[in-house]
Amino acid sequence: MTARLTLTPTSKVLILTGAGVSAESGVPTFRGTNGLWEERRVEEVASPQGFDADAKLVWRFYSLRRDGASKVNPNPGHEAIATLEARLGDRFLLATQNVDGLHTRAGSKRMICIHGELFKTRCERCNEPFVDTKTYFDAVPRCETCDGRLRPHIVWFGEMLNPTHLTQIDGFIESAGPELVFLAIGTSGQVYPAAGFVDAARRVGGQCWLVDVDPTPEYARRFDHVVRGKSGEVLPALFAP
Ligand code: OAD
Repeated sequence: MTARLTLTPTSKVLILTGAGVSAESGVPTFRGTNGLWEERRVEEVASPQGFDADAKLVWRFYSLRRDGASKVNPNPGHEAIATLEARLGDRFLLATQNVDGLHTRAGSKRMICIHGELFKTRCERCNEPFVDTKTYFDAVPRCETCDGRLRPHIVWFGEMLNPTHLTQIDGFIESAGPELVFLAIGTSGQVYPAAGFVDAARRVGGQCWLVDVDPTPEYARRFDHVVRGKSGEVLPALFAP
């Protein structure tokens, strides 16, 4: 039977997305077969220590990812999420762990990029992120203003998420209370604090859904409903009005 979400006029929907949502667009996920973390150590390319040890290697990694992400397109999963937002307005919030920009290209607006944005760069000293689609394969770029080192605008392991983002998400969950419908889509639930949003949703009495082609059992256990399938195939029907 095709799963279908039932919403009332007062329901508030919080969606958390992970790499699985972009898999059908051709963006590799992190864990599992052919995952980005299978062929390299996470700390080498996604930590402040890795950047200090070999900034050129880190920039090559993110330059390859910029190249890859600029060649792919949003899929029906991204589109279904944007369509749901258009229906719900301010009763909707998307928190994405994805940095590839595909939700924006599909039309999502009420969105928080909790792990940063692939097409932004920031200076280690000035700290102000700016849009940057360039690739840096040969040299580490420097800030035009202060000559500080430029780095990808990504939240690396060992770094804090933007506290304003967490406050916005907490605020949405609290204000929704039992009217909350929380969906985690295409995420293995291994990275906190995102992996803990389901617990916050449960605490306020929200209804929790997991959509994943191959859900992690420890994560799935914390949800009321688990829909197994590809997000690009499941979401258009799940969100049908
Ligand atoms: P993972 O690679 O850990 O998990 C991807 C999830 O997507 C898995 O549970 C897959 O089963 C599922 N999946 C794959 N294809 C799918 C499809 N077509 N439809 C639905 N589900 C599918 O990725 P994340 O959970 O996003 O952080 O990883 C979380 C964070 O860890 C990332 O944001 C990244 C990484 O280290 C940073 O780089 C800061």
